[in-house]
Amino acid sequence: MKATGDITTATLGSFLLLLCVCSLRADYCEVNSCHNGATCVMGVGEDPFICICTDGFAGDTCNLTETGPCSPNPCKNDGSCEVIAPTRRGDVFNEYVCRCQPGFEGVHCQINVNDCAKEPCRNGGTCRDLDGDYACQCPSPYVGKQCQLRCIALLGMEGGAIVESQISASSVHYGVLGLQRWGPELARLNNQGIVNAWTSAGHDRNPWIEINMQKKMRLTGIITQGASRMGAAEYIKAFKVASSLDGISYVTFKGDGIRRDKVFVGNTDNDSTKTNLLDPPIVAQYIRIIPVVCRRACTLRMELVGCELNVYSNTTGCSEPLGMKSRLISDDQLSASSTFRTWGIDTFTWHPQFARLDKAGKTNAWSPAQNNRSEWIQVDLGKTKQLSGIVTQGAKDFGVVQFVSEFKVAYSNDGESWSIVKEENTGDDKIFQGNTDNNTHKKNVFEPPFYARYVRVVPWVWHERITLRMELLGCDD
Ligand SMILES: *[C@@H]1O[C@H](CO)[C@@H](O)[C@H](O)[C@H]1NC(C)=O
Ligand SMILES: *[C@@H]1O[C@H](CO)[C@@H](O)[C@H](O)[C@H]1NC(C)=O
Ligand SMILES: *[C@@H]1O[C@H](CO)[C@@H](O)[C@H](O)[C@H]1NC(C)=O
Ligand SMILES: *[C@@H]1O[C@H](CO)[C@@H](O)[C@H](O)[C@H]1NC(C)=O
Ligand SMILES: *[C@@H]1O[C@H](CO)[C@@H](O)[C@H](O)[C@H]1NC(C)=O
Repeated sequence: MKATGDITTATLGSFLLLLCVCSLRADYCEVNSCHNGATCVMGVGEDPFICICTDGFAGDTCNLTETGPCSPNPCKNDGSCEVIAPTRRGDVFNEYVCRCQPGFEGVHCQINVNDCAKEPCRNGGTCRDLDGDYACQCPSPYVGKQCQLRCIALLGMEGGAIVESQISASSVHYGVLGLQRWGPELARLNNQGIVNAWTSAGHDRNPWIEINMQKKMRLTGIITQGASRMGAAEYIKAFKVASSLDGISYVTFKGDGIRRDKVFVGNTDNDSTKTNLLDPPIVAQYIRIIPVVCRRACTLRMELVGCELNVYSNTTGCSEPLGMKSRLISDDQLSASSTFRTWGIDTFTWHPQFARLDKAGKTNAWSPAQNNRSEWIQVDLGKTKQLSGIVTQGAKDFGVVQFVSEFKVAYSNDGESWSIVKEENTGDDKIFQGNTDNNTHKKNVFEPPFYARYVRVVPWVWHERITLRMELLGCDD
């Protein structure tokens, strides 16, 4: 009995001790030991609690006043502060200067320079002011940074630069007891003769004609024309357009800001031509005309209007920042597998919207909930663009240096089927070498560049936590 009693007492004792430690730990933040409006959070490891100081205070309990004209930083918009007179003196008006980020000016970098003020967009383009940059939205057929280029070459249906083997169709109509073949190779604008156009088979419920341009081109328009057979006019009254970069996944043209497929108005007789602009232009290798309403039969002669991508087709010419830093890529274009919250506090959430190169602040990067290879951050560029590189950067989480040292890149045109960037010679997934510290920009080049609307970065190896700020490089064309 005595022995049992001893054990009970000892157990109770250690239980009380445990209880005491527990409540003590809880008390660390219950009685807020942090000064000057700081936030107290339960500690990790050896520290029982941690104070997160408001601007202008420092020290373990935020009881020290940060001093000097640059503490707290009086410069706005990520401007950096430089002390020019270490002590306050009556005869010195300014004790510091703000060095502003591009696109900002004013004594405290408080003015966002209107980069559209000089009206850089030509030919009716509309200008959007960004942080340190601008973007022109060009009306078709104008393209280029300032809408300065006209993209209006005839691509060769009529002229013959597009050869027979590049043209295919869902079906072919055979007329006059099967002797006349109205094949897709005949669908050339102003083609002459008795059999001079493509016609789909009468039983074909989903007709289409496709042109493989054999490389990626920019298309700004389509010219269509009907034909006459046995003295009767046949033509396509309305059609849709689909395009593909790889001949496997196709996207139906929708037009800017419209959710539904665009239905183009086609022809009204056997001979006149109708020109439709593609606005915005399509970048694709394969283009399909999909008849929706046909008069008598789906009969077509046509031409494609567009231009080469060569304005920017080499990697030196196509490496503009695509807008993570300038915010051309808006917050709702960024998403991620998950987000991390430091100490579980909402205020310290590491949103994908924070993954912008050079972002400042206490939480200034993306970080996922878990550190594993299933996590990703995604950019929806809004439309297909050429991607030629990526710049990555780490960050600090309350003093802890964190970064992604190796990563993979995946891309997609529809947000559903993804390709991973491969090594050119081996065909293995390419592992990009990332950061080695909390701040340096690390640039990687995509060789060859690829075209995509959606891009994902998949962290592969990291230091402390997956933590990423980034910029994508490429061009519109
Ligand atoms: C700030 O608090 C620490 C203990 O947390 C104390 O040692 C120090 O003297 C305090 N400093 C001032 C300026 O109050
Ligand atoms: C076809 O077009 C030509 C030229 O516009 C016109 O003369 C002819 O009558 C048309 N034929 C039919 C069958 O509509
Ligand atoms: C790439 O394009 C730029 C701009 O058009 C041009 O100046 C440069 O010479 C080109 N470089 C190569 C390697 O073709
Ligand atoms: C990775 O983390 C996510 C949560 O963010 C989880 O759903 C998934 O199961 C984890 N995968 C592995 C392999 O641990
Ligand atoms: C983090 O980056 C800053 C800014 O470049 C640098 O001054 C600092 O030394 C870095 N810290 C560490 C621990 O590498």
